[in-house]
Amino acid sequence: MNSDSPQIITLDSLSRRNFLKRGSAAVAGTALLGALAPERFALGASSNDTIKIALIGCGGRGSGAANQALNTYSLGPVKLVAMADAHEDRLQSSLSNLQKTHADRVDVPKERQFIGFEAYKEAIAQCDVAILSTPPGFRPIHFEEAVRQGKNIFMEKPVASDAAGVRQVLAAAVEAKKKNLKIGVGLQRHHQDGYIETLKRIHDGAIGDVVSMNCYWNGSRPWQKKRSELEKQYGRPLTEMEYQLRNWYYFTWIGGDHIVEQHIHNIDVINWVKKGPPVKARAMGGREITTSPDDGEIYDHFACEFDYADGSTCYSYCRHQPNTWNSVSEHVVGTKGRSDVSGNKILGENQWRYKAENAKDPYQQEHDDLFKAIRENREYSEIDYGASSTMTAILGRMAAYSGKEIDYEAALNSKISIMPKSFAWDAAPLVQPGPDGYYPKAIPGKTVVL
Ligand SMILES: NC(=O)c1ccc[n+]([C@@H]2O[C@H](COP(=O)([O-])OP(=O)(O)OC[C@H]3O[C@@H](n4cnc5c(N)ncnc54)[C@H](O)[C@@H]3O)[C@@H](O)[C@H]2O)c1
Repeated sequence: MNSDSPQIITLDSLSRRNFLKRGSAAVAGTALLGALAPERFALGASSNDTIKIALIGCGGRGSGAANQALNTYSLGPVKLVAMADAHEDRLQSSLSNLQKTHADRVDVPKERQFIGFEAYKEAIAQCDVAILSTPPGFRPIHFEEAVRQGKNIFMEKPVASDAAGVRQVLAAAVEAKKKNLKIGVGLQRHHQDGYIETLKRIHDGAIGDVVSMNCYWNGSRPWQKKRSELEKQYGRPLTEMEYQLRNWYYFTWIGGDHIVEQHIHNIDVINWVKKGPPVKARAMGGREITTSPDDGEIYDHFACEFDYADGSTCYSYCRHQPNTWNSVSEHVVGTKGRSDVSGNKILGENQWRYKAENAKDPYQQEHDDLFKAIRENREYSEIDYGASSTMTAILGRMAAYSGKEIDYEAALNSKISIMPKSFAWDAAPLVQPGPDGYYPKAIPGKTVVL
């Protein structure tokens, strides 16, 4: 089996021990479904068929993804036919923006606008391609339903917020494979020419064996929705569920914490270099600059060591602390040279630098690639690295929250789910504020994650 040999996906094969070597997104995706004869096609779209799209989660990224999906019209007709969101106001602002850009490609009358926790089911029923772009905690539920309904899927990263969610996605992925569904995952660096060319050279041996890696998502604070401002805006107190959903970034069950929600991009590049996820992790982290209950329960910094099966280690750092050293990047050291992967450079005896000529927007490219595969009815799935990179980031969080060294296998099989038992505006999230309004945070040495 050569280094770009396909990965055959099963629940078990997605565990690290059986994680076969894989190559680029296209190669992995092409091979992924090859083992099974197609049961049926979710959409046998020729270039003349109109592909109907539903958007589930109509926020910033979802609206962007819908725009990019609609921009594939040069490949054949596309139409946004349904939208679903937990909140009416988010759906309406997304709809009005998309109508401005794609007047003749947006056809979402009132009866195909769905609001609430169950809205995703009806929206998915209307479409050929479901865009799943809520915060990641809901992704496994929505992915499972879209697969059940036999729909092609573009889903944003991360694909889950905890290990139970990753397992749910993996189980649904087995069904998706049987149904020959085309699946894109929003780790767009896999569609970015500079990364693709750099990774190709690393995999071809330009820097020898990769022995050490480091990556960062060190930046400023993300957006925040303060309870007091939300209550002023809506003119009433919010239930705990409403508040946590509006301010989702700060609650681990919905957003996964910073390491999962953002740093996944960099961790994913390192997994791409290593052709699979690590075997174990050690980590530390905490909250240094968080000052109010609106900071929820998440950490503001993490430092992790991810050990890979070949003995190499990735040193990964992420934080959101204003006025500190910032970097969003990946770097690897080999026996014959180094690579500034995010800078698309090879350093050492095989020096090389990517020259961007007509470089395409990777956010657009990932949709062009998915819709092309649908129209050509080609096997296409990015679930293997989408799920394993999500799980790697979750592993780092689990190691930091607990203060323990944790195996990838053990983390993937964790029996602890952080998701609420039910979803309704008056249902109780598992994490609740104390009498002072502050939320409990993970305490290394005490917090149990397995
Ligand atoms: N690939 C990238 O570079 C990139 C960039 C930004 C965001 N993202 C990802 O996209 C996802 C969404 O992020 P965003 O920035 O658009 O957030 P956002 O808050 O702008 O949008 C999320 C939307 O989902 C809705 N929502 C929440 N729970 C829902 C539910 N249960 N059912 C239906 N709708 C629900 C919210 O009301 C909101 O409209 C996240 O997973 C994020 O990590 C990816």
